[in-house]
Amino acid sequence: MPLHPAAHSPGLAVVLGGTGGIGAALTNGLRDQGHTVLAVGRRTVPAMDYDRPETVAEAAAHVAQQIEATGLPMLRLIVATGVLHEGILQPERSWAHLDAEALQRVFLINTIGPALVMRHFLPLMPKQGRCVAAFLSARVGSIGDNALGGWYGYRASKAALNQLVHTAAIEMARRNREALCVVLHPGTVDTALSQPFAKTGLQVRPPAVAASELMQVIDHLPAGSSGGFFDHHGLSISW
Ligand SMILES: NC(=O)c1ccc[n+]([C@@H]2O[C@H](COP(=O)([O-])OP(=O)(O)OC[C@H]3O[C@@H](n4cnc5c(N)ncnc54)[C@H](OP(=O)(O)O)[C@@H]3O)[C@@H](O)[C@H]2O)c1
Repeated sequence: MPLHPAAHSPGLAVVLGGTGGIGAALTNGLRDQGHTVLAVGRRTVPAMDYDRPETVAEAAAHVAQQIEATGLPMLRLIVATGVLHEGILQPERSWAHLDAEALQRVFLINTIGPALVMRHFLPLMPKQGRCVAAFLSARVGSIGDNALGGWYGYRASKAALNQLVHTAAIEMARRNREALCVVLHPGTVDTALSQPFAKTGLQVRPPAVAASELMQVIDHLPAGSSGGFFDHHGLSISW
C-alpha cells in the first residue's frame, strides 16, 4: 500500500534510536507524513544512551519542553533501539555460550532501556485522542513461535520487552482510552543489526520499505489492538 499523509492532524513524533537503520527510515517517513519529528540517538542533541540511564530522563525533559513550546501533542513515540550483536555480545547457538556479561548487556539495551523510556516518555503522551507508542521487538521474541532455538539472550530480552509493553498498554488505557501501545516486528531488514545474519533465502528488505510498512500498520491499528504484538503486515504474532 502506498503511504499517504496522516489522516489526522500531524503532531510531534519522537523516534528513539532514530539514527539506527530502521529508526532513520521511520524518521524520514514520519517527516513525509507532516509530523514534526525528533530523532534521538546516542550522538544526537539531546542524546539518549542506555549506558547512562539519566539520559533517558534528560531526553524526555527535552521533549516535554518541545511539547510545551510548540503546543504540538506527541502523537507518535517509536522506540527503534535494540541490539543483537556488539563486541563480546553475539547470539548464542547453544546453552554452552550463555555468558553473564553478554546477557546483562542484551537485557540492558533491549529490555531495561525501553522500560525506562516507558517511565519517562509515556506520561508525555496526550491524555485524550488517538496516539501511538510503538516498540520494535522481534518475532524471535515470541515463545509460541520458537521452533528453532538458539539466540537465547536476544529472544529472552525481546520476550521480556513484549511483557513490559503489554503491561504498559493496560496502564496507558486508564489515562487515555484511545491511546495505543504496541509491540511491532519489522521483518528482516537490511541494517547493521541483521547484516551478519542475513542468510540467502530470508526476505531482507531495505529500511525504507520496512518503515513504510510499519507506518501503515501504526496508522491503521484498530481500536482494541493496544497491548498487541504485530508484524509489518499488521498480522498478530503469538506471545
Ligand atoms: N534489522 C532487522 O532485521 C530486525 C529484525 C527484527 C527486529 N529488529 C529490531 O528493530 C530495531 C531496530 O533495529 P535496526 O535493524 O534498525 O538496528 P540498528 O541499525 O543497529 O539500530 C539500532 C539502534 O539502537 C540504538 N542503540 C544501540 N545500543 C544502544 C544503547 N546502548 N543506548 C541507546 N540506544 C542504543 C542505536 O543507536 P545509535 O544510532 O546511536 O547507534 C540505533 O539507533 C531493534 O529493536 C531490533 O531488535 C530488527
